[in-house]
Amino acid sequence: MPVALITGASRGIGVAIALTLAKQGYRVVVNHRDSAARAEDVVGTITAAGGEAMAIKADVTVPGDVTAMVDEVTRRWGGVDVLVHNALTPYAITSFAELSWEQLGDKLDSELRAAFLTTKAVVPGMMSRNHGRLIYLSALLSRRPRTGMITIGTAKAAMDQFVRYIALELAPHGITANIVAPTTVEGATSTELVSPERLRTIAAAIPMQRLARPSEVANTVAFLASDDSGFTTGHYLPVSGGLGMD
Ligand SMILES: NC(=O)c1ccc[n+]([C@@H]2O[C@H](COP(=O)([O-])OP(=O)(O)OC[C@H]3O[C@@H](n4cnc5c(N)ncnc54)[C@H](OP(=O)(O)O)[C@@H]3O)[C@@H](O)[C@H]2O)c1
Repeated sequence: MPVALITGASRGIGVAIALTLAKQGYRVVVNHRDSAARAEDVVGTITAAGGEAMAIKADVTVPGDVTAMVDEVTRRWGGVDVLVHNALTPYAITSFAELSWEQLGDKLDSELRAAFLTTKAVVPGMMSRNHGRLIYLSALLSRRPRTGMITIGTAKAAMDQFVRYIALELAPHGITANIVAPTTVEGATSTELVSPERLRTIAAAIPMQRLARPSEVANTVAFLASDDSGFTTGHYLPVSGGLGMD
């Protein structure tokens, strides 16, 4: 069974990705930072349905945590075939007028650090097998600015370009790297911080007139994880009801 490691799979979109990949026959690693009970619930749901999963606590911005997590997966299940880097590190919502360098610099640092560390940890194993799938959760905000979202939009844009460089360098090794870019997703923890009125305004601007569903993001990730996407690398796939069309 192929092994999928999903960072930040204790809440929000990561849960939907974990459940979808488990249903499709992957052994699933449910990474979390603080929510051990929630992560164990996800593992329980998967195992009750006949799948295989394990929860691992690791802060994806801490090098020792990331290497220990990948070492444990390798020891127990032989390695990571699919990395879905989904964990959402904290960010400030602010105008440029109110923005400090610390707010922007901190988000750039945590976003790129997490993408860098998780990629570095899984790529050697993938190269040895001449096969791998790297999938990164970005946000449509990295291409379409929205008021107040300068820190996350800028940091995700930096991660997007990091992924393209990874895709270029790893393509000869049978490893693909792609970006999934949702618009606002209903039910996710970060979405719950937005007022219902603001969410209605956001939905009204989407051609399909609603927010994205976690399952729709998860199904796009599942396609990129599968063998069916083997000749697709370095791409940015919006899940946006038409808002992010080229
Ligand atoms: N929500 C949206 O509308 C939306 C839209 C576009 C893109 N996205 C992207 O989709 C991804 C998931 O977003 P979400 O809204 O589902 O997030 P969320 O509900 O806030 O969940 C965040 C997850 O990340 C984990 N996490 C946070 N910091 C971590 C760290 N340092 N190390 C390991 N795990 C960490 C959390 O673990 P704990 O529970 O242990 O804290 C949790 O499982 C993010 O990359 C986000 O930018 C979201």
